[in-house]
Amino acid sequence: MINLSVHPDYATLCRELAAQIAQLVRQKPTAVIGFATGSSPLGIYQELIRLHREEGLSFAEVCAFNLDEYYPIRAEDPQSYAGFMERQLFNHIDIKLENCFIPSGDSRSIQEIQEDCVAYEAKISECGGIDFQILGIGRTGHIGFNEPGSEIDSRTRLVHLDSITRNDAANDFGGFENVPERAITMGIGTILEAKQIALVASGEAKAAIVASAINGVVTSKIPATYLRAHPNVTYWLDEAATSCLQA
Ligand code: F6R
Repeated sequence: MINLSVHPDYATLCRELAAQIAQLVRQKPTAVIGFATGSSPLGIYQELIRLHREEGLSFAEVCAFNLDEYYPIRAEDPQSYAGFMERQLFNHIDIKLENCFIPSGDSRSIQEIQEDCVAYEAKISECGGIDFQILGIGRTGHIGFNEPGSEIDSRTRLVHLDSITRNDAANDFGGFENVPERAITMGIGTILEAKQIALVASGEAKAAIVASAINGVVTSKIPATYLRAHPNVTYWLDEAATSCLQA
């Protein structure tokens, strides 16, 4: 079932979603949080940093799992999601970096990647599973980097990025041809095991895909439609992102 949480603007959305995450962390200091990168969660991370600095919210016992990473990419490259998370959140709160997990983008053999993907899933289970997963949505309908064609039971794996997704990342990489063709992502099956999911979308550019994800046929062509199989998903939207939803 899909719940909608609609807000007049992105700033309000971020404040309220961060407050919900803060409440979870206060109730369960060892909470396991699934983080996303990209522009959608940035305001939430800024608000979590503010709550840490001004209201003493502590992440000292929190475990973090990120959805995805480009492949191949070095963690120290400016476009890596590992670097993004440190710059945008982890370096500004008291989370322990040894409790922050993100698929490695290091170049290695396919067999090593597969072993690491299995180990990533095992680590999530060992930590007790993800309590709260933050998602964005790509214009292809991807969640994580589960592009069209991804199946509902897919697990953490190496994937090919859709050209729409590579186009959307072209500015960050100084051109389409520099955007990696592949990535490592948690699977849809992995995401659906999170106890609670918040998908964040803001702005008119996301309105059409949000409407298809919520109202369209459930299909691997729009992987976000699989979220309807989850009992506790909320779409956090600003008004612009709702503009294609029927009244
Ligand atoms: C990022 C991720 C992607 C993004 C999506 C939306 O970790 O998994 O699914 O959430 O591409 O990106 P933005 O928020 O930049 O529009």
